[in-house]
Amino acid sequence: MERELTLEFVRVTEAAALEAGRWMGRGNKEKADEAAVNAMRRMFDTVQIDGTVVIGEGEMDEAPMLYIGERVGTGTPPELDVAVDPLEGTNIVAKGLTGAIAVLAAAPRGCLLHAPDMYMEKIAVGPRAAGRISLDAPVEENIKAVAAALGKNVEDLTAVILDRPRHEELIRRVRQTGARIRLISDGDVAPAVAVGFEGTGVDLLIGIGGAPEGVLAAAALRCLGGEMQARLWPMDNEEEERARKMGIDDIRRVLLMDDLVKSDDVIFAATGVTDSTLLRGVIYTSWGARTHSVVMRGQTGTVRFIEARHHFSRKPDYARPLDSNLFGA
Ligand code: FBP
Repeated sequence: MERELTLEFVRVTEAAALEAGRWMGRGNKEKADEAAVNAMRRMFDTVQIDGTVVIGEGEMDEAPMLYIGERVGTGTPPELDVAVDPLEGTNIVAKGLTGAIAVLAAAPRGCLLHAPDMYMEKIAVGPRAAGRISLDAPVEENIKAVAAALGKNVEDLTAVILDRPRHEELIRRVRQTGARIRLISDGDVAPAVAVGFEGTGVDLLIGIGGAPEGVLAAAALRCLGGEMQARLWPMDNEEEERARKMGIDDIRRVLLMDDLVKSDDVIFAATGVTDSTLLRGVIYTSWGARTHSVVMRGQTGTVRFIEARHHFSRKPDYARPLDSNLFGA
């Protein structure tokens, strides 16, 4: 992929974040998501790629836009697999909490796992602890291994875990090791990416979250030299069947980096919608808005943080009222 695409992809995640951010705290996750999807879809039309959505808003019959199999871009080469989550953390935005991002990853066709929309067990670490973790090992061993790799005491290690009843036992065991925990209400992509950077204050992500989100995070970790291991966690026979249909024969197999993202030729872009460890959320001003994004390329490992100022007076699309029905009119 040409390096110029990095900036094009940031424009796509910026557009989604700018629209989704306007719904912060309004208690309406559907509207926030819809706004992000529309904006991302529109901006994709300007990007010179022949993209196919492999991770998106759902199957064709359940999502009007950015559905799995939808073609995006101008239709000119390169042929790419595109994974998108226009709004990762819909509840976060609805409640005005931290950690929502607009995110995408792209790689040459066939290089991103076509992850079905179901749960996945995950463990993710940054470059220094890559090669030291195993999803099959007890959590206590993983914690010890990551602490040793980072040259830290276990007590100084921070694990990020989704705050869910299914994680009660995991949380108890991690606490028993002495490690610190950051419980999150939603949105496990941003922290999975944050563990890839030293100094973000989080060292590993562990637990069960969405499989599509797992592939997005793995794309970032591939660029950063980190590692994710994962295993699908189907809830019933129907989900198992869906996974098989999508080409994953051995459901219980541990998925390694090469299964999740097959090539170093991968680009990951994300824009903060609300503040997170890694990115600041959208800030609206008298003249428009400021966004904060990160974009990375696996081939070179270059990571760029981009702060952009968007002048709405010169962009009629963004200057329009949020939604005339918003306040019950
Ligand atoms: P949204 O789809 O509402 O944005 O939620 C995303 C998310 O919080 C992911 O980050 C996480 O992997 C997954 O949902 C967790 O699922 P659940 O809320 O069912 O535990």
